[in-house]
Amino acid sequence: MPSSDLFDSGGTVKKIDIKASKRKIEKELSLIKCNFVKFLVAHADDYKIKSISVSGFNPATGKGVKFQDVDYSKYDLIITNPPFSQFIEFINVLFHNKKRFLVIGPLTAITYKEIFSHIQKDEMWLGYAKQLSGFRLADGQLVLSKNPEGSVPRACKWYTNLDVSYRHDKMILTEKFCEKDYPRYFNYNGIEVDKTVRIPYDFKGHMGVPVTFLTKYNPEQFEIIGKGVQVEKTKRFPGDKATLWVEKNGKPHKAPFERIIIKHRHKKT
Ligand SMILES: C[S@@+](CC[C@H](N)C(=O)[O-])C[C@H]1O[C@@H](n2cnc3c(N)ncnc32)[C@H](O)[C@@H]1O
Repeated sequence: MPSSDLFDSGGTVKKIDIKASKRKIEKELSLIKCNFVKFLVAHADDYKIKSISVSGFNPATGKGVKFQDVDYSKYDLIITNPPFSQFIEFINVLFHNKKRFLVIGPLTAITYKEIFSHIQKDEMWLGYAKQLSGFRLADGQLVLSKNPEGSVPRACKWYTNLDVSYRHDKMILTEKFCEKDYPRYFNYNGIEVDKTVRIPYDFKGHMGVPVTFLTKYNPEQFEIIGKGVQVEKTKRFPGDKATLWVEKNGKPHKAPFERIIIKHRHKKT
């Protein structure tokens, strides 16, 4: 087979046997178009990778292999940037096939009911990097989130079920709870915490925190009760989609942006 076939982006499943093709790969690294593959080939020894299989699908031409049709039993780990419009279905396919994965998804997917439920059950979590907001194209060009042409790549996150170190790091909390600094919700039994770093170390009840909390979430330190919109409210207002309201002077004052309700595990030491 002509050497360029090994790495072409035609979309069919292609297997790269690292040992068998090592010399060829070293000689022709420039032929690899996909940055995922480039990285994995370059680090094959570090990660003890024996082979890499590449597949893709182009909906415009119908060429290639759909992720729905891949035989996952052959692979240990799935790494990709799947079509965002099918992100939930894609994650379902990975869980159905009991696969380990490291995939890019839109930042907003954190709050999708199905995705959040996996996060809450500790079946998947966010990978490293605060936010992915740019892409390097095959020709080396970097497309940033605010590029001059105005096309804006969506803010993204890594989603994974591979272990990450921050899940074992206890968040260092310095704030002591005090009524005047942490408003109560008007329609839920809990307090509003506007920044993750402000989580009080000594509050035993439910706390509403921004979704960015998940970038530091250690499941041994905190329990996730639910998304703000999911938890049972003591009072709902007409037309108000299960929003949490912060109380002020005994009245609903403001509805903060998307919150996650958590509580300390407060393990006895
Ligand atoms: C977010 S893009 C990622 C593109 C690629 N990682 C890159 O950097 O060029 C998602 C890709 O999934 C492809 N796609 C759409 N439907 C698919 C399907 N059912 N199975 C596999 N790939 C699909 C699209 O053609 C698109 O190229």
